[in-house]
Amino acid sequence: MNQPLPNSLQAYWMPFTANRQFKAAPRMVVGAKDMHYRTDDGRQLLDGTAGLWCCNAGHARPRIVEAIQKQAAELDYAPAFQMGHPKAFTLAARLARIMPGELNHAFFTNSGSESVETALKIALAYHRIRGEGGRVRLIGREKGYHGTNFGGMSVGGITANRKMFGALVAGVDHLRHTHGDPRNRFVRGLPEHGAEFADDLERLCQLHDPSTIAAVIVEPVQGSAGVIVPPRGYLERLRAICDRHGILLIFDEVITGFGRMGTPFAIDWFGIEPDMVTLAKGITNGVIPMGVVMVKSAIHDAFMQGPPQTIEFFHGYTYSANPMACAAALGTLDTYEEESLLTRGAELADYWADAAHALKGLPHVIDIRTIGLIAAIELEPLPSKPSSRAFEAYLKCFEAGLLVRTTADIVALSPPLIIERRQIDQLFEILTKVLKTIV
Ligand SMILES: Cc1ncc(COP(=O)(O)O)c(C=O)c1O
Repeated sequence: MNQPLPNSLQAYWMPFTANRQFKAAPRMVVGAKDMHYRTDDGRQLLDGTAGLWCCNAGHARPRIVEAIQKQAAELDYAPAFQMGHPKAFTLAARLARIMPGELNHAFFTNSGSESVETALKIALAYHRIRGEGGRVRLIGREKGYHGTNFGGMSVGGITANRKMFGALVAGVDHLRHTHGDPRNRFVRGLPEHGAEFADDLERLCQLHDPSTIAAVIVEPVQGSAGVIVPPRGYLERLRAICDRHGILLIFDEVITGFGRMGTPFAIDWFGIEPDMVTLAKGITNGVIPMGVVMVKSAIHDAFMQGPPQTIEFFHGYTYSANPMACAAALGTLDTYEEESLLTRGAELADYWADAAHALKGLPHVIDIRTIGLIAAIELEPLPSKPSSRAFEAYLKCFEAGLLVRTTADIVALSPPLIIERRQIDQLFEILTKVLKTIV
């Protein structure tokens, strides 16, 4: 059934959107179920992006819907400070169980951005508590995306997200990104060239002195910048350099977490254990805002000292571990578990990669990258109008019944983990047809 459009679109200032262009020709969705969105004109849209990399179990899943409905009637809100409710503890324990290694403590937030701010603050405070208050520097990476708050924006490396906002947080430096080596084009999984970029961290240690560096934060696979897969051995080198110099390593798994790589988390895929992991999105299947920082026991325990009546960490949010979000997360974890979704991507990864790499040779396609249930199709930019080719593809896909996501001239794909093979075929058939029409 068609739904009436609002009378005016003017009041809503839309995020990361060309507002005037959108409002001149709006694209509205009014419903969603499993692998599809429904548009206001009644069309089905195959979800090639799990919403914004978050609806990993697909849409309107019964367990999650039921959990939220029940929770709203039972306990809608509970103060987050000096007070608890059982589902917060249950959820933390359950996350600790599915995280590998020593990542046993959960600090709840409401988004990926807040998870990043929280992790950076934990890193600084941790060193200070241990008498290493001189460790004040934070290291990020070019092309990194860690949300839009001040800390995340500062360690992030996407120019457009940074340039308008002043001097950002002081004491931040960046590793170079690993994108663009022509030898790494059209690769499935990890590219072979570029592990030595990790040695940038050693150089920054020489420049600043390691005793001034608190933490390094990277996405195991860079998502928002257009799916940049780390070179083989790169993350291992980063871990080794951090260990050598007492620097904390934070993996931002806001998009790689919860099954996207074909393993529960990217750290399972790579077999590397960072000191903290930032999560959001898939934790509630995108249904209710929630994020979390998973913290190693040794870091958590360092805070649990001094008189027991003192607050150990002066940080938190009104909606940390909000009951509705906790219920949604528990319903989501049930769904992931019952349908083995956190590892389903591994079964589909070859089929997915075959389908994606079959687009090689289409007009303007200069690279294809795949890992887990992620793909990037990179197009040659029009010199006079960068990003216009990918955006044209986005609009045409939308018209043809497929939701994709684009950054610059890269089409990124990350469907719900419930996708069937025939839907993978359909997705790439639509995209192929569209790419053949791009000028
Ligand atoms: C790696 C990473 N970190 C942080 C964020 C920010 O998350 P949010 O939009 O929930 O604040 C994102 C969002 O895409 C992300 O991809």
